[in-house]
Amino acid sequence: MKILVTGGTGFIGSHTSIELVNDGHNVVIVDNLCNSNIDTLDRIRKITGIKVKFYDVDLTNYKDLESVFIENKFDAVIHLAGVKAVNESVQRPLKYFMNNLNGTVNLLTIMEKYSVKRLVFSSSATVYGKMNDLPLKEDSTLDVTNPYGRTKLMIEEMLEDIFNSSPNWGIASLRYFNPIGAHSSGLNGEIPRGIPNNIMPYITQVAVGKLDMLSVYGNDYPTHDGSGIRDYIHVEDLAKGHILALEKVLKNNLYEVYNLGTGKGYSVFELISMFEKTTGIEIPYKIVDRRDGDVAACYADSTKAFKDLGWKAEKNLRDMCIDAWKWQNNIG
Ligand code: UD1
Repeated sequence: MKILVTGGTGFIGSHTSIELVNDGHNVVIVDNLCNSNIDTLDRIRKITGIKVKFYDVDLTNYKDLESVFIENKFDAVIHLAGVKAVNESVQRPLKYFMNNLNGTVNLLTIMEKYSVKRLVFSSSATVYGKMNDLPLKEDSTLDVTNPYGRTKLMIEEMLEDIFNSSPNWGIASLRYFNPIGAHSSGLNGEIPRGIPNNIMPYITQVAVGKLDMLSVYGNDYPTHDGSGIRDYIHVEDLAKGHILALEKVLKNNLYEVYNLGTGKGYSVFELISMFEKTTGIEIPYKIVDRRDGDVAACYADSTKAFKDLGWKAEKNLRDMCIDAWKWQNNIG
């Protein structure tokens, strides 16, 4: 199948593209490289042996995007392009609305025009409200606290409206929990711009000596050790979830939402100690205040993805630490 991957040079998009190519699909990537690197295409080629077609196109440019659809007859789209920094979204909400919302409206309009009605959308566990019981299920209460999260939730709602208006679409929204790790070859992974916001790239940069020490955001949460608990998921497992969701939407007219997590939560201290144990490197840290907007604990019930898609996370926290470290060593 010919599959368009928007945001295909990003962390999750590149791993998803690798899985698609390995599965025999013909992958075309559209990305504006605002938070990724053109070298990712070489990495995909090194791992898969295939050079994927690439367009440096911004989804907010309707004409450019339409020309990609004129040149290629796609069977489906996996849509990951978007901006994703929570803090920045609070400072610059319009940037988030313009990129994520306008970009998606353009994409969907063009998909409809060219009758490409099969879509997998990259959503986030950020759409869940703070007051839910754990683990989070797809029907847990939705509520967002920042413009980034609002764009994910609004896009989910747009997609449902589109399906309801015209049920010949097949659409899956995937709610990611905390993707970390890297390709198990050590040849592809995340390249954060500037100081990382997320914990795993921060830890690996401390380990490699780029950063001095990790700040642990709070040790007074109502958790067993006081630090925040998250459902960390290996990016390769996440990428495989996209392939199974794609198979589902290729065969069925539907709109469905799926959690992609392991179902197991680990605290910040547990993550640090797993990293130290697997690499033998000590991670110096200091306790600082809680970060605004963080919840105490968040982990998934992914039973629906298992039942409907046959998807289950296979890799554990140790694998995630090993692969993230392999990748950091590779890029220095
Ligand atoms: C964050 C975003 C979320 C987004 C996800 C994408 C926020 C509030 N949430 O999730 O919307 O979908 O990334 O990857 O930004 N921590 C530290 N020190 C650090 C960094 C993090 O102690 O330097 C802690 C956090 O308090 C949290 C855990 O580590 O308990 C994970 O944090 P992070 O990796 O940033 O992910 P989330 O905040 O869960």
